[in-house]
Amino acid sequence: MRSQFLTVASISGFVALSFTQSSTPSLEDVLADTENLSSFNELLTTEFSSLIANISNQQQSQQYVTLLAPSDSAFDRLGSSSIFADNSTEAIEAFLNYHIIPGDHQSSTVNQSFGFFPTRLDDTTYTNVSSGQRIGFVKQGDGELIIVSGGGTRSSAERTDIYFSGGVMHVIDSPVLPPQPFIQAAIPFNLTGFLGAGYQNQSLAEFITQARDVTLFVPNNIAFEKVGSTVTSIDEQSLSSLVNYHIIVGQGGPFYTSSLINGTVFTSVQGQNITVRQASNSNFVNSARVLQTDLLIANGVMHVIDNVLNPNGTGAVPDPAVGSQAPAMTGTSLADTPFTDIIPSLTSTLSIASTTSSTGTGVTGTGVTGTSSTRRASSTRSSSTGQSTQTGTAPRTARDGAIMGGVIAVWMFL
Ligand SMILES: *[C@@H]1O[C@H](CO)[C@@H](O)[C@H](O)[C@H]1NC(C)=O
Ligand SMILES: *[C@@H]1O[C@H](CO)[C@@H](O)[C@H](O)[C@H]1NC(C)=O
Ligand SMILES: *[C@@H]1O[C@H](CO)[C@@H](O)[C@H](O)[C@H]1NC(C)=O
Ligand SMILES: *[C@@H]1O[C@H](CO)[C@@H](O)[C@H](O)[C@H]1NC(C)=O
Ligand SMILES: *[C@@H]1O[C@H](CO)[C@@H](O)[C@H](O)[C@H]1NC(C)=O
Ligand SMILES: *[C@@H]1O[C@H](CO)[C@@H](O)[C@H](O)[C@H]1NC(C)=O
Ligand SMILES: *[C@@H]1O[C@H](CO)[C@@H](O)[C@H](O)[C@H]1NC(C)=O
Ligand SMILES: *[C@@H]1O[C@H](CO)[C@@H](O)[C@H](O)[C@H]1NC(C)=O
Ligand SMILES: *[C@@H]1O[C@H](CO)[C@@H](O)[C@H](O)[C@H]1NC(C)=O
Ligand SMILES: *[C@@H]1O[C@H](CO)[C@@H](O)[C@H](O)[C@H]1NC(C)=O
Repeated sequence: MRSQFLTVASISGFVALSFTQSSTPSLEDVLADTENLSSFNELLTTEFSSLIANISNQQQSQQYVTLLAPSDSAFDRLGSSSIFADNSTEAIEAFLNYHIIPGDHQSSTVNQSFGFFPTRLDDTTYTNVSSGQRIGFVKQGDGELIIVSGGGTRSSAERTDIYFSGGVMHVIDSPVLPPQPFIQAAIPFNLTGFLGAGYQNQSLAEFITQARDVTLFVPNNIAFEKVGSTVTSIDEQSLSSLVNYHIIVGQGGPFYTSSLINGTVFTSVQGQNITVRQASNSNFVNSARVLQTDLLIANGVMHVIDNVLNPNGTGAVPDPAVGSQAPAMTGTSLADTPFTDIIPSLTSTLSIASTTSSTGTGVTGTGVTGTSSTRRASSTRSSSTGQSTQTGTAPRTARDGAIMGGVIAVWMFL
């Protein structure tokens, strides 16, 4: 009986396997046969074949992966001031791993509200988010699949649901970018008041950047200006305490928008609680309104708020009827953002940061344009357009993409 059972089981196992393999193409075939993927294909096949082997052939559906494949023009837009600038295998592997998401995320499974999912990027040189740095998926009203990555980068899927034996592939119009450390990510979003306040204390600055699984509620610069006289007059210990009141570490986080549920209480690093409330289609933290959500950073996520939180005023509640919430502490305003002069060696790039994304989702355009000299991925591309020159693809954002690329290069290689 027993041996008969085993025989049947192994035969049916064999049948199932060969069925899968014969009906779904291999990743190699899919990469080679999909139009406008030559850069990605060449990069993978010439230098990262072990990565292909790893995701090619999942024998069990639970191990399926979703592969985001940047198109050739997406690679062109990455430019020279980018991940590829130093030809570092480690950095490029991290970049590629960020394009691999465990799980079978067919476009039909993506929701109209943001979902953040772990990727294969878990190298602590690049991320301190447990189980892998996250990436955001959302489906727009028109059905378009949007992917959100570091720096508010927003990629859209040009072609979706291309199946291979190890999962599903979507072709994207710009590469997804591994989120930067807070120190770099703060600058293009004008969050330098909070950054500078953290820098008053070097060990606090390091903590913010490197602690695992952080959620930051970051007051924007206007918020720091409004209470400028107070925050600049308190002693160093009080300022550290104030900064720590905006930070949540661990506790099951990082906490993306979907976790910001009405009435949720988080315990801050400072020790006291902060309370999330929802009203009039907005999220509030204590009495501060959340202006932008889900900006990814190397060690978690940040949400931008319109007021500095006060650890001596934990009971502050919002007035949802009022657009701009009253400050949670007294003080007179300053014309300039306090603390920004403290930020070491990054001050020179401050003036270059440009537009903000105005939506609650915190997504902006790609920010990955730059010059046209793509490094290796396009060297042998046989294309009728000839070279890997910029094909006139305009940046999808008002933000200066080259600067973003430069900042990324800085953190990845220093
Ligand atoms: C491939 O790229 C060319 C040139 O950019 C474009 O005209 C064509 O539509 C692309 N093909 C697909 C399937 O996206
Ligand atoms: C693929 O890589 C992942 C992550 O590095 C590892 O956990 C997994 O065991 C590998 N799978 C195969 C089939 O090599
Ligand atoms: C980049 O590095 C790879 C692997 O180390 C090497 O094969 C390739 O020639 C290098 N490319 C350039 C442009 O230096
Ligand atoms: C989509 O939303 C439903 C209901 O909120 C949830 O159960 C499901 O996990 C979500 N799917 C994804 C892929 O986020
Ligand atoms: C992650 O944390 C470790 C220390 O635990 C640190 O050495 C590393 O630089 C951090 N990674 C990033 C991207 O900040
Ligand atoms: C600096 O920050 C560290 C880490 O948060 C904290 O332990 C220390 O007390 C702070 N120092 C001052 C003077 O506030
Ligand atoms: C909070 O209260 C303590 C004790 O009175 C004081 O030392 C500290 O400066 C206050 N912090 C702020 C931000 O006002
Ligand atoms: C913070 O909230 C937790 C859980 O809601 C509660 O147990 C704790 O007493 C609160 N801490 C303070 C300082 O209010
Ligand atoms: C949030 O909770 C408060 C207190 O329980 C309640 O009054 C309010 O209506 C809730 N808001 C939403 C949007 O459900
Ligand atoms: C940053 O501030 C500058 C100067 O106030 C402004 O022009 C720019 O739009 C702001 N950018 C963001 C992302 O808020």
